[in-house]
Amino acid sequence: MNWWQESVVYQIYPRSFKDSNQDGIGDLQGIISKLDYLSYLGIDVIWLCPVYESPNEDNGYDISDYFSIMRDFGSMSDMEELIQKSKKHGISIVMDIVANHTSSEHRWFKEAQKSVDNPYRQYYVFKPNTGKIPSDLKSIFLGSAWSLDEQTNSYYLHLFAKSQPDLNWHYKPVRDELYQMINWWLDKGIQGFRFDVIDLVAKDLDQNKISDGPKLHDYIQELNLNCFKKHSILTVGETWGATTEKAKRYSNLDGSEFSMIFNFSHILLDQEPGKEKWDTVELDLVKLKKVFNDQQVDLYQKGWNSLFWNNHDLPRIVSRWGNDQEYREQSAKMLGTLLHFMQGTPYIYQGEELGMTNVKFESFSDYRDIETQNMIRDRRKKGLTDDQIMASIQKIGRDNARTPFPWNKSDFGGFSEVQPWINMNPNYSLINAQEQLGRVDSVLEYYRKLIWFRRVSNLKDIIRDGQFELMYSDHKDLFAYKRILGSMELKVYCNFHSHSIHLNEDVQTMKLILSNYDEIDSNHGLNLRPYEAIVLEGKGNDL
Ligand code: NOJ
Repeated sequence: MNWWQESVVYQIYPRSFKDSNQDGIGDLQGIISKLDYLSYLGIDVIWLCPVYESPNEDNGYDISDYFSIMRDFGSMSDMEELIQKSKKHGISIVMDIVANHTSSEHRWFKEAQKSVDNPYRQYYVFKPNTGKIPSDLKSIFLGSAWSLDEQTNSYYLHLFAKSQPDLNWHYKPVRDELYQMINWWLDKGIQGFRFDVIDLVAKDLDQNKISDGPKLHDYIQELNLNCFKKHSILTVGETWGATTEKAKRYSNLDGSEFSMIFNFSHILLDQEPGKEKWDTVELDLVKLKKVFNDQQVDLYQKGWNSLFWNNHDLPRIVSRWGNDQEYREQSAKMLGTLLHFMQGTPYIYQGEELGMTNVKFESFSDYRDIETQNMIRDRRKKGLTDDQIMASIQKIGRDNARTPFPWNKSDFGGFSEVQPWINMNPNYSLINAQEQLGRVDSVLEYYRKLIWFRRVSNLKDIIRDGQFELMYSDHKDLFAYKRILGSMELKVYCNFHSHSIHLNEDVQTMKLILSNYDEIDSNHGLNLRPYEAIVLEGKGNDL
């Protein structure tokens, strides 16, 4: 068993976590000041979104120097302090490696722009200007994926913003530079990495293959040999194109690739196939069950799952698939229960443990995200109304996840003493950590329990190793499953709706492990109230 199979990861978006120097931007000292909070929650690992030097066009996902810390966030000695102090709290640090592209401010790109025969030219993907754009390839942030470099009259490739030129992984010196950089961070005491859009790095333009290029797994294995082999670290690849079948290969138990990947097949279920991410459809629970069932069953003893609902690119799950009004607390707890009793390594995104919700800013200018701003321009051009555009942003835009962490109900939520770089979610006076700490029925205290069950309790083996079996696969409102290990069995029931569900189940012989209501209603069967979640334990075959 690897340590990361028994861990719970907490994702921090440093810009929005805690501001220590009152400039309105979260920073490393801010994180250090909240390590006690994270220990109290019980997590083992922090995944730190990028903290490297960056012009911040894409909030750090545009790195201009992999070896220094962004000034807004502090200094290298703050980073070293964070690593050491986290360690004292029993917390490991996982860094975010953005290696599909750099910032256009990176020294390599600046060199590459100097002339066509500059040694750094091959670090990127340039095509001579023959009078027309090299191809129709579109950037993920909209518009063409090619921009003209006027100095050398050539086009360069950027799958994201113009200021994020793609690196050329087919050129070995690029890979070697990246391995060196990763090893340098390992020497600093980093215990793992999240690899940004890793399935794009081996793109093969000649074969029109952007995701999953033919050499992708060769490169990952090479990366593994050069950087991971000597260490016991957590590695997780961000792979939007992955299926459960592909996840098996990436997280193969022979340890030749990653510990696990982020498989988005569940999270993509409310997006209209073939359309842009802004075009959403209602979630079909039966499909969600099928996708989770495949992930759980197919990877069992063959690979390893990551378990997540949220991250800095996704809307808040309680607003997305729960109920962020009347049943906010119940549904936040229900969604947490559903995930945390499955097999895999859970990832909690900052504020998820408070049941934080999406935000509805009044004007487009309140939004900071480059993807959102590009989309506003693009959709206005396409003739959509501002109301239509705003509705999509409020539903699926990335800034939903990026409002500052509400520590308490004072001005600016205790995040900062000054106006933050992005507005607070106006509901921070109701939803904040101080209000929830120690309140026994809060979402925060419930998340502590979820973490405790898989980290400490005597159920931890079944949660980690038990087989998964879906129940009621066709039920439209209920997500229920079993976990089975030897003669032990857990049953998890989650009501996904605001109406009650009656089940003809005799659960009298089972032991109640957890519920998001004060007590369960098991008279004449099992009655699940709105968004109710119940976990029961029993002896498998004698039920
Ligand atoms: C995925 C990251 O999670 C996202 O925030 C970023 O904009 C893109 N990759 C580009 O690096």
